Amino acid sequence: MAKINFGGVEENVVTREEFSLEKAKQVLKNEVVAVIGYGVQGPGQSLNLKDNGINVIVGQRKNSKSWNKAVEDGWKENVNLFDIEEAAKQATIIQFLLSDAGQIEQWNKIKPYLTKGKALYFSHGFGITFNDQTGIVPPKDVDVILVAPKGSGTSLRRLFVQGKGINSSYAIYQDASGKAKERVISLGMAVGSGYLFETDFKKEVYSDLTGERGILMGALAGVFEAQYNVLRKNGHSPSEAFNETVEELTQSLMPLVAENGMDWMYANTSVTAQRGALDWRHKFRTAVEPVFENLYESVKTGNEAKIVIESGRKTDYRKNLEAELKEIRESEMWQAGKQVRNLRPGTK
Ligand SMILES: NC(=O)c1ccc[n+]([C@@H]2O[C@H](COP(=O)([O-])OP(=O)(O)OC[C@H]3O[C@@H](n4cnc5c(N)ncnc54)[C@H](OP(=O)(O)O)[C@@H]3O)[C@@H](O)[C@H]2O)c1
Repeated sequence: MAKINFGGVEENVVTREEFSLEKAKQVLKNEVVAVIGYGVQGPGQSLNLKDNGINVIVGQRKNSKSWNKAVEDGWKENVNLFDIEEAAKQATIIQFLLSDAGQIEQWNKIKPYLTKGKALYFSHGFGITFNDQTGIVPPKDVDVILVAPKGSGTSLRRLFVQGKGINSSYAIYQDASGKAKERVISLGMAVGSGYLFETDFKKEVYSDLTGERGILMGALAGVFEAQYNVLRKNGHSPSEAFNETVEELTQSLMPLVAENGMDWMYANTSVTAQRGALDWRHKFRTAVEPVFENLYESVKTGNEAKIVIESGRKTDYRKNLEAELKEIRESEMWQAGKQVRNLRPGTK
């Protein structure tokens, strides 16, 4: 394990150089890894494990879209594809990759197969951290570990096929066997991670829920709308408002920030843009920091988990979701966005 300095803070990081795939295979050679769930993470992780030579099976409820997808991907019924209970029974490591709502519903079916010495693996800290609400309380004599790829299962697979990887966090909640660490790091490498950084279950879920409600999706959509509305109220056309708000950000600026960082972007823009952005950055931070504080508190108290779990239980959730998404899709801003996308050179 290497200590790497991130802006003055030392963190434990495991790279492929120091923990090779060969070592991971050695650690996992007597394990049967059951990937339970074939949604988004399930395919990425199970196919990468298989291609890396790990003994892996898939557990998926039958007669469903995900079962059919597993069959299409080459998994064979009763050979390496089983229903959830049979896979859990055969496994020594259970990778619980159902949706978070599915995990709550299926927990009582999995639990009897969590016998002494097995490991229970998650890709999200949700079920364990909020177990007063999810009911997911593993027996004391199993390892409970986590590898959370910081990206979609689709990218995990795509990048693996290209010989690259997605960075993942890893955590240990319970080390009953004394082998939890070598198990989790081996699995992290074998599912195709680029490098692994250390976290714990709580930090993983708190940061994840904050990030998706915040800058990654919630805040982003909110500030897009705020700026677009102000431009429109002041007489700017939809094209102008959309291009200044979304298109320039996604097409031009963010790829450059990803490559070179924020200071580089400031340094490589006009003085007009640079001076204004540098000054307004502080005003925006001051304005939104209280909202982020409020959001983090809502995550930490379990309030966000409660909302998610209650929403998942509502039978009309999907129907109402479609109405909410329709409102966004049909708003002037995103209709303008559709036109802007269509007009991009090279778009049919
Ligand atoms: N999405 C990502 O890329 C991503 C990234 C990092 C971490 N994670 C974490 O990885 C885990 C898996 O996430 P995911 O996005 O891959 O899940 P997902 O696509 O939402 O999960 C779908 C899977 O769950 C099954 N499922 C749903 N409800 C079920 C129920 N009531 N009973 C039985 N099976 C049920 C589905 O089977 P059916 O087709 O039969 O419904 C399918 O196999 C989660 O903990 C998530 O937070 C996800």
